[in-house]
Amino acid sequence: MDTYKRLLNNNKHWAEDTVARDPDFFKRLENIQQPEFLWIGCSDSRVPANEITGTQPGEVFVHRNIANMVVHTDLNLLSVLQYAVEYLKVKHIIVCGHYGCGGVKAAMTNNSLGIINKWLRNIKDVYRLHRRELNALESEQERFDRLVELNVTEQVMDLAKTSIIQKAWLERGGPDLHGWVYRLSDGIIKPVFEMEAGTEVDPIYKFDNLGPAGTKG
Ligand code: CO
Repeated sequence: MDTYKRLLNNNKHWAEDTVARDPDFFKRLENIQQPEFLWIGCSDSRVPANEITGTQPGEVFVHRNIANMVVHTDLNLLSVLQYAVEYLKVKHIIVCGHYGCGGVKAAMTNNSLGIINKWLRNIKDVYRLHRRELNALESEQERFDRLVELNVTEQVMDLAKTSIIQKAWLERGGPDLHGWVYRLSDGIIKPVFEMEAGTEVDPIYKFDNLGPAGTKG
């Protein structure tokens, strides 16, 4: 059997099993989604949001890209963020990186990879910001692991720099922001950083005209 046909076959079985266990499952989800969480994760096939968090369809709104980046010029990310925050009104946003991330690893090298260079540049900026701490570490492996953690932390702070988040914090005191790192070797998620709603952001990034007439974006 062609490998892709296995997926369609699996799907048929999954749908049948799901209805057998819970006859109203699809009816419940058909017309409404009310996820409490927005997940911003890496595209890596080994880090699937629902499986590793034991969540079901309907529970997590998901955005994934190489190395779980929050790039403030990325229309895709910003659209997901705005929709999740303003319409779905998620209570928590989770940026989940993972040790062994190929994107972070590539950003630590000087290899030119084509268009991906432009994406990885954002991770190189994180390295530059934390160069002193990273260079003080003993081994390449430690630097790699720490950069994964620092990258997640910086992406959470990048969320807080957006007017979308600042406006929501002002208007409804949410969502809280979380930075997590998943370990491929044992499947465990380590929380590394958190910004509760209302946390002060660096003054230079703070917008003070976010009322009803304030600018968006
Ligand atoms: Co990755």
